[in-house]
Amino acid sequence: MTTMTTMTMAAAPATGAATGTVRGGFAERYLLDPAVNADPYDYLNSLRDHDPVYWSAMHRAWLVTGHAQLMHCLRDPAVSAERVRPLMDAVPEGAREDTERAFSILSRWMVFNDPPQHRRLRQAFQEQFAARAIGRYKTFVERATRAMLARRAVPGTVGDLLADIARPLPALVFARWLGVPQAHGPSFWYWNARVGDLVLGAAQEEREYRTSLQSLVRLEDYLAGLVRERRADPKDDLISSVLAGGHVGKTVSEEEFVGMLTQMAFAGGETTSNLIVNAMLALLRHPDQLAAVREDPALVPMVVEEAMRYDGPSKMSIRTAARDFGLDGRAVRSGDRMFLVTAAANRDRDRFPDPDAFDVRRGSASHLGFGFGAHFCIGAALARLVAGAVIDVLIREYPDLELADQQPLTWQLSLLNRALTALPVRY
Ligand code: HEM
Repeated sequence: MTTMTTMTMAAAPATGAATGTVRGGFAERYLLDPAVNADPYDYLNSLRDHDPVYWSAMHRAWLVTGHAQLMHCLRDPAVSAERVRPLMDAVPEGAREDTERAFSILSRWMVFNDPPQHRRLRQAFQEQFAARAIGRYKTFVERATRAMLARRAVPGTVGDLLADIARPLPALVFARWLGVPQAHGPSFWYWNARVGDLVLGAAQEEREYRTSLQSLVRLEDYLAGLVRERRADPKDDLISSVLAGGHVGKTVSEEEFVGMLTQMAFAGGETTSNLIVNAMLALLRHPDQLAAVREDPALVPMVVEEAMRYDGPSKMSIRTAARDFGLDGRAVRSGDRMFLVTAAANRDRDRFPDPDAFDVRRGSASHLGFGFGAHFCIGAALARLVAGAVIDVLIREYPDLELADQQPLTWQLSLLNRALTALPVRY
């Protein structure tokens, strides 16, 4: 998912101010302030310590940063995942041509649905995402990883780990797994990126909105065609397996199935790239941890989990209050927007001892990097497989891998995604 990671909408601040009122030593800051965006954790720690359920007039939203409070929200039926209408309402007048169709597609994304509808939609895919079904792709992923690294990451040379490996590898794997022929890859990923601009709030200008909405429509048309092809001529891929599972046409319509497919690559592509990069950055910045993993590569799955907690690709999930309710003594009103800041909850010292340390032996999977509850990331096993495969080969076969220069790294300005623009390394 971004983070779905991610798959949520961006928000504008109520004022242009980057710093808000100072109360009891705490000064609220705009989450998209470049300094906060580049290194959010000190600020998020102070926000959580000040008030784990904080009404932010600046963001016009509740900022939920405590681990317990956030888990409570993700369990509470009063907290709704439906938020497509406000996303469409943000589309400028001049770009509204495709909004009704886009509204209809996004309304079928499971991440924007509440129970019982959500359960019915998710059920159609559930079996194909289970660790066992994903495990069938292990050999393919490992081979593809080795082949790509051998071609694009020559030991001793300087490169960008994101552009060389972390971006193209998940794209290659997901296209194969989903059933998108290689020749269609460029347009398929272009449409997905533009859909991301819409859902993650990067589209600002009328022209950008128009391109994003058209891309969503084209992506749906393309996937509808692919579903028709696979129905006539099944192959070894997700679309064929879900069709064979028997839900499509019974518990979910073909239209719902195709709508849900438009979410998959968007939800999993960039997030998995960012997991690989963030995990490698954390390792390269903590030589003792890197040495421990080199000595014992069996720790790689724990590196993946610790990276998800310590600096995961998805910073928050967005929700709306479906009715009035109380949270930690606060009165949340129906319609209030809620930012469930998982990046802050994952550093909550009430849940994780010494939370700001990157510790690959922590062995705790209770992070919220893949969400929690009904909407827990359905693609987690696939993300773990791909990220684990890349980190494993880099650990075992690149003993001299190091950060290439000391320039400050640049993080994409985003409320939702924790994403570097590049990771320069010497292989
Ligand atoms: C490291 C990579 C990934 C991260 C950090 C991530 C993160 C998340 C998060 C935080 C959620 C919950 C969103 C919410 O509650 O609002 C989510 C849901 C989801 N993710 Fe992922 N995700 C990743 C990889 C993937 C992959 C590989 C796929 C599919 C190929 C995928 C598909 C989905 C879908 C369909 C949902 C919605 C589930 C539902 O609503 O029931 N994700 N993801």
